[in-house]
Amino acid sequence: MNIIFQPLKGHDRSAFTSGDDADSRALDGWFRKAASQDQKRNLARVFVAIDRDAGDAIVGFYSLSTFSIALGDIPEDLARKLPRHDAIPAALMGRLARATSVRGQGIGELLVADAVRRILDVSESVAVHAIVVDAKNEWASRFYQSFGFIPFPDSAKRLFLLAATARRAR
Ligand SMILES: CC(C)(COP(=O)(O)OP(=O)(O)OC[C@H]1O[C@@H](n2cnc3c(N)ncnc32)[C@H](O)[C@@H]1OP(=O)(O)O)[C@@H](O)C(=O)NCCC(=O)NCCS
Repeated sequence: MNIIFQPLKGHDRSAFTSGDDADSRALDGWFRKAASQDQKRNLARVFVAIDRDAGDAIVGFYSLSTFSIALGDIPEDLARKLPRHDAIPAALMGRLARATSVRGQGIGELLVADAVRRILDVSESVAVHAIVVDAKNEWASRFYQSFGFIPFPDSAKRLFLLAATARRAR
């Protein structure tokens, strides 16, 4: 495999499949039919992982948007270290999936690493305190926790990683 990342632009997404379950079908449906529209409306930026060794097949994608977190939603020990601002600036990794054709080959980790790198680059110009992800199920939540993401106290499916922590791991 020879994986490169590109902004989504005119790529053929019609055959992309990340899984058979209802959540994966919803994710794939959004990627195939709504991702371009969401980009045009400035609701999300979408990036695709391309395998140069497989006819430039799309082997994964992720989407990024700005986001804000209510101070009351983050764990008390972290909130205490922050000024009493109403909202904490964040970046949202809204959707992320690898194709079933590359299952078990570590593409998920490459997708997370590229998304985090891109967010840290942007954070030089627009402050980002935390990176937020929405995991569709318990397995996906554990996948994100393996990179240091921490579940929000009131929602195990929504997790965050402090940008400072991600920057130290760079
Ligand atoms: C989450 C994800 C990106 C992780 O990708 P990855 O790290 O490359 O790992 P893979 O999914 O390829 O799978 C690694 C192993 O876990 C298994 N696995 C994958 N999803 C699983 C699930 N929901 N439950 C249990 N095991 C699962 C795979 O079968 C594989 O096992 P194998 O190596 O024995 O075949 C990927 O599973 C994915 O795209 N899933 C569909 C969409 C999704 O869940 N996105 C997460 C954000 S909502």
